[in-house]
Amino acid sequence: MGLAPRIAAAIVIVVCLWCFCESAPNTSVTNVLCNSGVYTAGDPFVISLNYVVEELETVTPTQKNYDFQNISPYPNAFAYGHATCNTNLTTSDCKTCLAAAKTAMFTTCQNRIGARAVLHDCSIRYEQYPFDD
Ligand SMILES: *[C@@H]1O[C@H](CO)[C@@H](O)[C@H](O)[C@H]1NC(C)=O
Ligand SMILES: *[C@@H]1O[C@H](CO)[C@@H](O)[C@H](O)[C@H]1NC(C)=O
Repeated sequence: MGLAPRIAAAIVIVVCLWCFCESAPNTSVTNVLCNSGVYTAGDPFVISLNYVVEELETVTPTQKNYDFQNISPYPNAFAYGHATCNTNLTTSDCKTCLAAAKTAMFTTCQNRIGARAVLHDCSIRYEQYPFDD
């Protein structure tokens, strides 16, 4: 094997390793905040909340700027959501990060009427009222 092919092979290997490193989103938790208000079992808000969070998780990674806001479609109880990923993530890393953010949020904030989790590479939030950030 001559020098040029070896260099080429080395470059390919280095680039591949770099890709693998890059493709782990940083899911270290910066902040989790819970509204002190609690909803009760059977509250129609639960259905709206589930809808909003699931849509945030599936749609945010498909948005060009990884920034997505939504509102539940059911008239009984509204849930408002917002999620973001750092734009330097891949679509699949955005999805991975949001799953981690959701877990962090629901682990710390159980049955809350509002909550948010900010991770290094993504964030997720829901409330019973519209909000801007
Ligand atoms: C994405 O950019 C942020 C700064 O905006 C940086 O802190 C983070 O480490 C970057 N993530 C990746 C995977 O490059
Ligand atoms: C992830 O981000 C945190 C700060 O938000 C930083 O302390 C940590 O070193 C980062 N981890 C990696 C693997 O980049």
